[in-house]
Amino acid sequence: MTDQIDTLLQETRRFPPPDGFARQANATEALYQAAGKDRLGFWEEQARALEWITPWTQVLEWKIPHARWFLGGRLNVAANCLDRHVRTPRRNQAAIIWEGEPGDRRTITYWELHREVGRAANALKQLGVKKGDRVAIYLPMIPEAAIAMLACARIGAVHSVVFGGFSSESLRDRINDAQAVCLITADGGYRRGAMLPLKRFADEAIAQCPSIRHVLVVQRSPGGAGDESFANMTEGRDHWWHRLLDLASPHCPAEPMDAEDLLFILYTSGTTGKPKGIVHTTGGYLTQVASTTRYVFDLKEGDVFWCTADVGWVTGHSYVVYGPLANGATVLMYEGAPDWPERDRFWKLVARYGVTIFYTAPTAIRAFMKWGEELPAKHDLSTLRLLGTVGEPINPEAWMWYHRNIGRERCPIVDTWWQTETGGIMITALPGVVTTKPGSATIPFPGISAQLVDQKGVPLPKGGGLLVLSEPWPGMLRTIYGDDQRYHDTYWSRFGDKYFAGDGAKLDEDGYWWILGRVDDVLNVAGHRIGTMEIESALVDHPAVAEAAVVGKTHELKGQALAAFVTLKEGHQPSASLKDELKEHVARKIGAIARPDDVLFSADLPKTRSGKIMRRLLKDIAEGRALGDTTTLADPGVVSRLKDQYESEEG
Ligand code: PRX
Repeated sequence: MTDQIDTLLQETRRFPPPDGFARQANATEALYQAAGKDRLGFWEEQARALEWITPWTQVLEWKIPHARWFLGGRLNVAANCLDRHVRTPRRNQAAIIWEGEPGDRRTITYWELHREVGRAANALKQLGVKKGDRVAIYLPMIPEAAIAMLACARIGAVHSVVFGGFSSESLRDRINDAQAVCLITADGGYRRGAMLPLKRFADEAIAQCPSIRHVLVVQRSPGGAGDESFANMTEGRDHWWHRLLDLASPHCPAEPMDAEDLLFILYTSGTTGKPKGIVHTTGGYLTQVASTTRYVFDLKEGDVFWCTADVGWVTGHSYVVYGPLANGATVLMYEGAPDWPERDRFWKLVARYGVTIFYTAPTAIRAFMKWGEELPAKHDLSTLRLLGTVGEPINPEAWMWYHRNIGRERCPIVDTWWQTETGGIMITALPGVVTTKPGSATIPFPGISAQLVDQKGVPLPKGGGLLVLSEPWPGMLRTIYGDDQRYHDTYWSRFGDKYFAGDGAKLDEDGYWWILGRVDDVLNVAGHRIGTMEIESALVDHPAVAEAAVVGKTHELKGQALAAFVTLKEGHQPSASLKDELKEHVARKIGAIARPDDVLFSADLPKTRSGKIMRRLLKDIAEGRALGDTTTLADPGVVSRLKDQYESEEG
C-alpha cells in the first residue's frame, strides 16, 4: 500500500471545471453548503423531487446498524420512472435506445416503455407473482432486462438480477438463497458473435430450484417470430414472454409501496462462504440514485446517457435503469462486447446515437489504450460533454488518456467511488463545481459522511488508512438477505458504529480521496468483485484437488488477475491438460469472469503453524516480488521452492 501512496502523491495535475460546463451545470457549490448545514434536510429536499403517494412523517430512524429512511412514506419506483413522464410531452421521447451486438436496433419511447412494463407486470400477476415475492432475472443486455425489473417494481415483487455471464450453478445458488418463485430469462444472448444458450443454463439451474414455479422466456434467437426452436420449453412451467405479453393489458396499477419495502436483492462476493444477498429498499434507494444521477451526470433534456455496465451489476441497476429513468433521460443500451466486430464498436455507437454522457470502467479504458488512439480518432465524438468511471481505482495515465482521446480535453471526468452495498455514488467530483485530480475520486457527495480511520477506528486527518462511512445514507443496504448476523459481522463488527467499506484509501492535504483498493480477501477483476474463497471452493470441488489458494496479481488490463496454487490428491499428476481443466471447471462453476489466469501445482502450500494459508506470500510469488517475512511459517522451505517453480513455469 505504501508504494501506491507514494506514486499517487506525485500526482500534481489539476483540472478545474471548464467555464462553459460550470455555467450550465445542475450542481452548484450551494449543495455542499446546504448538506453541510442540515444533512437530513438535504436528503429530504432530494426525496421531494420524487413523486410520493403518501409523504413521510420521519426522515430517518437510526438504530445502529439498521437505518430506515422516509418512514411512513409510500411511493412506487416504476411510477416514478414512467408514469410521471408519460403525463408530459416527454412521453414521446426515447427512454431506451438499444443496439444488439449483431447490429439490430430498437428505440422505445417513455409511452411505449410504460405500456410494455404494464404488460409484463400483468403477465407476472397472471402467473401468480405477488407483492413481496422474489423474481430472478437472468437476461442479456436487452430492453426486456429493464422492462422486467420495472415490472417487478410496479407490482411490488422483489427482483434479483443475476448477471447473464454467471454459470448455472451460480444462478441456482442465488435463486435458492432468495427462494425466487419465478425466473425471467431468454433463449440466448449475443457475445462476440456467438449465442450464449441462457435457457439451457437456466434449465440446469432450476432442475435444483424447487421454489421456481414459472419461467418466462424472452426470444432473442434469430429466425424471427415463429422460430421458437432455440429453447426447450417445459409445458406448464415455461412461457414465451412475447406470447404472454401479447395477451396482457398494458394497464397495470402501480402498487403503493412503503419506503422501506424491498425493491431488490443483488448478490455480491464476500470474503467467505456464499455470495451475499444485498438488500435495497424503495424510498431511500430511489432518492439517492435519482439525485446522484441528476448532479453527477448533469442530465438535461436532449442528453443521451450511456452507462456501459451490464444490468447484472449494481451500476446497471442504479445508472442504466433507475437513476436515469427517474430523471426522464434517454439511455443507450448495448448488448455486446466492445471489440465486436471491431475494436471501435463503442466509438461507432457514440457517434451514431450522439451520446453526450459516457460512463465506463477503468478496465475498459485500459483496453482502449492498448488498442490505440487511432480508433477513437476515426470517429466523431464531438457530442460527448461529460465522462465518468467506476469500479476500481483509475491509474492517472489511464485518466489522462481518457481525457485526451475520448474527452478531447473538453469534458470533465467524474471518478465515482461506491459499492453494491452503498446503492448509489458516494465519493465523486460534481462536474462544474469540483476541480479534479487524475486518479482521485475527489470528495464525498453532499450528505455523505466519509471518514479515514486507522486499524483501530481512530479518525485520521490525512494520509493512508481505511475508508469508513460514519453516518447512514439513504441508499445504504438494509441487511444481507436472510442473514442479518452476517450483515453485522461483515460491515459493523470492526468499528461498531461505522460502516467499514473494505477499502484502503488515502486522504490528501485538500481532503481529496484516493482509493487504494480492497484490504480483505476480495479481488477486483475487471471491475467485478470476486471472493478468493469462492474460487478456492470451486477448485476444491474438482475431484483431483485437495487444497487451493487463490490470490490476485496486478494485471495491465483487468486490474487484478487470478493466480491459483493447487495441491492435488494422491494419485493425481500435474499436467498442462489438468491445468486447463481446472480453469474450465472454475468458469463452469462460477462464470468466465472467475477463470484463473495461472494455475500452479504444488506439493504444499505455505502455512503458519496454526495452519492458515499465507496468501500474502503467494501474492509476492505471483507478482514476482522478493518474498516478505517467512519466519512464521511452519515450513519456510515450501515458499522458496514454490517461488522457483512459479518463475520457471512463467518464464
Ligand atoms: O474497491 C472498491 C471498488 O469496487 C468496490 C465495489 O465493488 P462493487 O460492489 O462490485 O461495485 C462496483 C461498482 C459500484 C469498492 O469497494 N471501486 C468502485 N468504484 C471505485 C472503486 N475503487 C476506486 N475508485 C472507484 N471509483
